[in-house]
Amino acid sequence: VASTLRGTDLTRGLHPDFMAKEIEQQPEVVADFMATWGPSIGRKLWSPFGLAMPRHLTIVGCGTSLHAGRAVAQVAARLGGIPFTSIEASEVAATTTVPGSLAVVLSQSGETADVLRAVDALHGRSHPILALTNNPHSALARRAQAVMICRAGPEIGVAATKTFTAQVVGGTAVVLSMLAAGGVLDRSDIHRLVTQLESVADLMAYAIGAARGSVPDLVPALVDSPGFVFLGRGPGRVFADEGALKLKELTYRWAESHAAGELKHGPLALIEHGTPVIVVDDGSDRLAATIEEVRARGARVLSIGPEQATIPARTSTNAHGLARGVDWLGPLESVVGLQVLARELAVALGRDVDKPRNLAKSVTVE
Ligand code: G6P
Repeated sequence: VASTLRGTDLTRGLHPDFMAKEIEQQPEVVADFMATWGPSIGRKLWSPFGLAMPRHLTIVGCGTSLHAGRAVAQVAARLGGIPFTSIEASEVAATTTVPGSLAVVLSQSGETADVLRAVDALHGRSHPILALTNNPHSALARRAQAVMICRAGPEIGVAATKTFTAQVVGGTAVVLSMLAAGGVLDRSDIHRLVTQLESVADLMAYAIGAARGSVPDLVPALVDSPGFVFLGRGPGRVFADEGALKLKELTYRWAESHAAGELKHGPLALIEHGTPVIVVDDGSDRLAATIEEVRARGARVLSIGPEQATIPARTSTNAHGLARGVDWLGPLESVVGLQVLARELAVALGRDVDKPRNLAKSVTVE
């Protein structure tokens, strides 16, 4: 299944940089995707792929695309009980994979050398390959059995933003369709879940407003911090990982991301007075307990989560409020605040946010 890329507007418009524009485009990207593919989600979208219902998924990608893949796989695990393994593309050749597993390979450019080499290895082991990419003309799209184009439009900023969201939504559409074709979800389930997926456009728009309102005020206190710790748990973990990656790429500051429960097994030693700890908040008591531990050691806790969540109310110095999201999808909208935080810090530090040092939009060497 393929569609054309949306729009070819390659200008910044009134935005200060492409990244700012691409962050703002996320609600539109989701709305456009759902307007195009929403009515087909179900057997109609899955059947042309010609793939059997998988018993296991192997998620492959690099950087932000790998994070998007993990977020998608979590949906398949949660709604369909399908187990998954996620592997960095550069490690696929050296990693034993589950025989017969459906390889879901994500790459916004579809040209990343590590990804293409992984595809060769997966072909060699007879894995069926489903690609999620933003580029219908890419080598990845040509080499996969089935392709879902994510329709995010051209992304100029080196740090991926809207293509992350597009890959998560596009991948989720594929997963729902796979589960419908496999008889796990019936028509009424699909109708309900698609309606919730459509609501993500509004959730993203709300998150952009919330981020604009709260993040700039946080920047002065954070801009001199040499390092940042990101925490999440369960479905929120991968978004914490993506937040740390964005911050590293853009600010050139150290950022670590951990499962909240792992903090006490080592990273807690990093926490001192003023260390920024950014929490993707799921409102759970277990996360609240972790927050208390870091606060007791003087950490500056910033949390990103729904306004009603327990942690902002209980313990945070600065809560970044979101609307309550779609439970089965995980806190996708939290990525907006994390992107805006990374960008605002980078701007304050005088970095080139569209072209971070040492990085390329598409890495075509291994
Ligand atoms: C480069 C970029 C990253 C990106 C990664 C994967 O390293 O700097 O931002 O996430 O490639 O790119 P892809 O095109 O395969 O999604």
